[in-house]
Amino acid sequence: MADPKTNDLMERIVALCKRRGFIFQSSEIYGGINGFWDYGPLGAELKRNIKDSWWLSMTRHRDDIAGLEATIIMHPKIWQASGHATTFADPMTDCLLTKKRFRADQIDPQSGTVYHFDGAEHAETGFKVSRAYSVLIQEGGHPDSARKTARQFYAQGASGDTGKLVKELVLLNERTEKVENSTRYNPENGGLLTEPRQFNLMFKTYVGPVESEENLAWLRPETAQAIFAQFKNVLEVSRQKVPFGICQIGKAFRNEINPRNFTFRSREFEQMELEFFIRPDEAVEAICGSVAKPAGPGHPGEPQPNWGWQIWHQYWVEERLRYYENIGLPRTSLVEYWQKPEELAHYARATVDILYKFPFSKRGPDGELAGEELEGIAARSDFDLSQHQRFSGKPQVVYDEELKVAWPKVDAAKKTALLQHYYETRLKYLVKTGEASEKAEKQAREDAAQLEKGYYVPHVIEPSAGVDRLALALISNAYCEDQAPDEKGKMETRIVMRFHPRIAPIKVAIFPLLKNKPALVAKALEVRDLLRPHLAVFYDEAGAIGRRYRRQDEAGTPFGVTIDFETLGEQDPSLKDTVTLRERDSMKQSRVTINELLPLLSNKIR
Ligand code: GAP
Repeated sequence: MADPKTNDLMERIVALCKRRGFIFQSSEIYGGINGFWDYGPLGAELKRNIKDSWWLSMTRHRDDIAGLEATIIMHPKIWQASGHATTFADPMTDCLLTKKRFRADQIDPQSGTVYHFDGAEHAETGFKVSRAYSVLIQEGGHPDSARKTARQFYAQGASGDTGKLVKELVLLNERTEKVENSTRYNPENGGLLTEPRQFNLMFKTYVGPVESEENLAWLRPETAQAIFAQFKNVLEVSRQKVPFGICQIGKAFRNEINPRNFTFRSREFEQMELEFFIRPDEAVEAICGSVAKPAGPGHPGEPQPNWGWQIWHQYWVEERLRYYENIGLPRTSLVEYWQKPEELAHYARATVDILYKFPFSKRGPDGELAGEELEGIAARSDFDLSQHQRFSGKPQVVYDEELKVAWPKVDAAKKTALLQHYYETRLKYLVKTGEASEKAEKQAREDAAQLEKGYYVPHVIEPSAGVDRLALALISNAYCEDQAPDEKGKMETRIVMRFHPRIAPIKVAIFPLLKNKPALVAKALEVRDLLRPHLAVFYDEAGAIGRRYRRQDEAGTPFGVTIDFETLGEQDPSLKDTVTLRERDSMKQSRVTINELLPLLSNKIR
């Protein structure tokens, strides 16, 4: 559990999101729907800025990544190939008393005394239940509370006045047991939970008018699989060569057992995923003579032909950290978490999660916020394309001319070693996926023979981020309360969203000093129209200027431009066509000409 101070901060952030129109509960007028969120005017702009910045950094600012926009519903076989149809499940458990559902693997272990009962009876009405039930009472708890919970449980099956029954039921065969670190009891009331069962997180639907098994389809739980399924098409049309990437932004759906922490774990969300395809290390070694590995921590620099999967993985971790810093998340708010071997998916060679220190994060032993996942960067070997190759029957290999040319020049001993290693890795994959050993060996031998001719299934590094989690991280990071003078110069608490100008929903607000002076209004509208084609501008003429500044501070608008009497040149002709430019964070004001505004602001926002 996060401590009360940080929970309180989270509550203030959630309140601001609603008050200022960043995030609303979906279907609020009908009481909402758990795990679904809508973005209001400011939230919609923020999300758009996030997606644009990611898309630009991945596609337009690079030569080696192509974009894709695929459908949400795809051929159901895709989810069999990816493993989602069978293994994309969380263990769930229900409270036998309240019916509240939990993720079994997220229940904090509890120790204490368990009160076991075999049933309950009520002599007056003849009501009797024979069923085992138990309640855990933590150290210091009173046994009567266990008995009360048990009576409530047994009274559920009765009709009539259950309130009276709860008071009068006699519990049968009470006995106690000490337990340590049990996850079998509801942390909220100590009541017994059901045995955990696997629950597939994919939302089902039917394609066409008949709701039959053969028309069953799923809403995608990740955008990644479409990239693999379209790998060959994109490769062909984009004239790319491995190493290269395909990226996509889009909706994903997961029927999360326990949506929580505001938008952090939602049932409908957006992902920004890159699949970056690389040569297997054996091909790199054949072409370059050796495989470069990371020389130490930090960014390894510009991509090189001799990079193996490890250095490519490190490169993407560092690129992604730079991206976050570039849009205003300080390095100190991020944690680079290397998954332990036992946490890795069976096909993953390494995964780094980039965590953000959300206010609701748990605290580590040092008292520091531990952070929650913003993005995962996985080295996924050649698992995904190999799976689609097996399930679709369509080859997903690439032909690598450089490998074909280099291979005959590799010395014999190295050739043998490379082929043996390649054969063993392919065999391991095939056996893991359930291929019979004879068939797997034959296939792995064929794969190794293909490598000699320049063909292989590319490996992949996958940086996979969530738009909504990033929006929440940026909102949490921007939220700030400081002191600022009110209209009369008295200091008051100001809420200010310190978004980086690159990501701020509105870049500049335009204010005529007074709304009842047509000359000021006309000039302000002229400035608005000058800037509007280039920047997200908000025009506001309502209320005292101080209050208008505050509204924009809460919206996170980094710049305010006020058109006043000086602008009209009424007092000092040399100040004609100058405006007051106010900076949100420092609240400093300076005088600039209207002509200077656009280049000056564009420069600060870029
Ligand atoms: N293709 C790999 C993949 O989907 P993931 O770790 O399950 O990996 C990637 O998801 C990212 O998607 C997460 O780091 C997170 O930012 C976002 N994400 C996943 N589940 C989410 C949820 N229920 N609500 C909001 N964002 C989620």
